[in-house]
Amino acid sequence: MAAPGPRSNDPETADESACITTIVDTIADIVPKLRTAFETHRSYEGDYNPSGEEMLAADVYADELLESRLGGLDCIGTYASEERADPIQVGTGLSIAVDPLDGSSNLGSNNGVGTIVGIYDGDLPASGHDLVGAMYVLYGPTTTAMVATDDGVTEYLCSDGQREVLTPSVSLPETGTVYGFGGPVPEWPSAFRRYAMSVQRRLKRRYGGALVADVNQVLSHGGVFAYPSLETRPSGKLRLQFEANPIAYIIEQANGLSYQGSGSVLETEPERLHQRTPLFVGSPEPLAELIETLGGKA
Ligand code: AHG
Ligand code: MN
Ligand code: MN
Ligand code: MN
Repeated sequence: MAAPGPRSNDPETADESACITTIVDTIADIVPKLRTAFETHRSYEGDYNPSGEEMLAADVYADELLESRLGGLDCIGTYASEERADPIQVGTGLSIAVDPLDGSSNLGSNNGVGTIVGIYDGDLPASGHDLVGAMYVLYGPTTTAMVATDDGVTEYLCSDGQREVLTPSVSLPETGTVYGFGGPVPEWPSAFRRYAMSVQRRLKRRYGGALVADVNQVLSHGGVFAYPSLETRPSGKLRLQFEANPIAYIIEQANGLSYQGSGSVLETEPERLHQRTPLFVGSPEPLAELIETLGGKA
């Protein structure tokens, strides 16, 4: 089984590093506006996104603000989002795939929500190995950003439009203490159900229904997050371009492992912009047990 740690994503160039820095600074700058919008834009719009989900006004607001600010950067060529059918050409340069508001159904109950950004060197849909960087923002009691490049993962505290380093180098412990598994238990594949029975004997359940918040608990405490394939959703629920690839890249850069049923998430063949995938990410030990139980390689 592959040793945990960064996979074979090519090291980013100086220009790509500079672009990633500008993206992170731009997002830190608009975080206050996004947080305000989560207070005021809570109604459903009646419009549906390409994944068939009814969009909140906050989904639309976040998408439009991110498109105007990130799409306006000289180093960005393509902007794509969970809320739009197709990528839009905004210039020449890197491609960004955005989940503007992750966990939007948590907004009404005032639980954690996030924003996820995948930064790809290549046309979309792209392979996870085309990622040169990825980040997420977690809007919790405080607002934090987790930023992964080929140098590793850094956690920032975001306030007043600025960011300051909170954790210079984020690294997952071998085992950890928490697990979070999504989807209705009766619809889990039997092998995953067997795995869940084993894990819940020794890890603490932490599941809140927003990918960013649930993954952040795994990055903070170590453990495993999973959203497996389901009877009614054989390809799982999470989107490869906007959610699974960026999260898998962050986890692998933090010395963890990702898996989608036959290998690393980053190996998944990109076919459609909104394709879904099962997602398993976390510390080496619980992921090794999962991979052994479900078969396949890391
Ligand atoms: P989004 O709000 O961007 O559509 O994402 C929701 C996703 C993800 O955040 C979370 O892990 C998952 O939906 C939760 O699904 P369940 O509601 O089935 O638990
Ligand atoms: Mn959605
Ligand atoms: Mn999401
Ligand atoms: Mn979303």
